[in-house]
Amino acid sequence: MNEVTLAIIKPDAYKNGVSGKIIDRIISEEFIINEMKQIHLSKKMAEGFYEIHRERPFFDELTSFMSSGKSIVLSLERENAVSKWRDVIGATNPAEAVAGTIRGQFGTNTGNNAVHGSDSPENGKLESKYFFS
Ligand code: RTP
Ligand code: MG
Repeated sequence: MNEVTLAIIKPDAYKNGVSGKIIDRIISEEFIINEMKQIHLSKKMAEGFYEIHRERPFFDELTSFMSSGKSIVLSLERENAVSKWRDVIGATNPAEAVAGTIRGQFGTNTGNNAVHGSDSPENGKLESKYFFS
């Protein structure tokens, strides 16, 4: 059965001019792009999105980075979309991401890791609603 996941091309990847390459990869991995938009997140919207990490030491750094420039947000659909997209993006820390994954190719470090992916089918739906209500 098809699932929905939310992808974000984060400000580092956007600034580095690799958004097109990442969108090509999304299409070649047979995701359907149900929704897509370019957005410069406010600090508040970034904080709401990463609310689950509010108590973590990296929360301010993370939400400042996510509101530092433009992003592209995409709601993606396919079979096993959540786990498939997390396989395609690779580990949170690009240094640990397998070669050929998006973070392995385009990420710089744990903070500047090029893309986001939802971590469960429930969150895939909730996060898509957060941006495309
Ligand atoms: P994401 O939510 O962005 O797809 O990343 P993820 O599931 O792989 O990782 P998660 O644990 O949800 O962390 C969210 C984002 O916070 C930043 N982070 N920094 N400095 C640190 O130790 C640290 N740990 C996490 C990363 O940018 C990560 O993508
Ligand atoms: Mg996460």
